[in-house]
Amino acid sequence: MSTLSLDKILQSQGIGSRKYCRAVIADGLVSIKGDPVLDWSLCFETEELRFSIDGREWQFHAKLYIVMNKPEACECSRKPSHHRSVLSLLPEEFINRDVQPVGRLDHDTTGLLLLSDDGKFIHAQSSPKKHLPKTYQATLARPCTPELVQALLEGVQLIDEDAPIRALSCAQTGELELELCIDQGKYHQVKRMIAAAGNHCAGLCRSAIGGLTLDTLGLAAGEWRLLTAEELALLAPY
Ligand code: URA
Repeated sequence: MSTLSLDKILQSQGIGSRKYCRAVIADGLVSIKGDPVLDWSLCFETEELRFSIDGREWQFHAKLYIVMNKPEACECSRKPSHHRSVLSLLPEEFINRDVQPVGRLDHDTTGLLLLSDDGKFIHAQSSPKKHLPKTYQATLARPCTPELVQALLEGVQLIDEDAPIRALSCAQTGELELELCIDQGKYHQVKRMIAAAGNHCAGLCRSAIGGLTLDTLGLAAGEWRLLTAEELALLAPY
């Protein structure tokens, strides 16, 4: 339970600076349970708090846990170099809260991407120590073979790595399709593993992180939503 003054509540939600939030409140634009609140110093219990700003509905969230179906031609960087940032798909208020992608997907990789403003969560989800499995659907440039699957399961040597890296699981899912699961997050790992095994990854989609699967989320490419408590529980504990 936490109680905060209204100006701090608005600021914590990324609405703007404390000065701006106080002005918005004084202008009568902020309502709680339908009634305008003009005094910025009034305190409210934040849990489950709903308010509206100029008619737009808001719910208080101490931290944001977002899942996105990342589209192609989007970079996970805050300062993208060739494509727009995935952050450009989110509301400005989330960016003000310093929401960041949890790990990175390449600009041409699609699928499940988590974003959050909770540093502990970001660290836990990306920590190599947690060994959180991530599943990918790869489209190959040349037909998949049992030898390719076997090589990925047995382990392939990547440049700059001390020991061969193996997939946790790997299965052919079509003539040019492969599903593989890894529990590390090395740079371009899946593409490099497929290349080291003698093929070429022509398309990549992340279909699951831990027990969270893309096809159960009902998100079209580019769409996002907040994770439910049940969905959060399917990820690495933190
Ligand atoms: N492996 C890759 O090669 N690229 C990604 O985007 C994710 C995993």
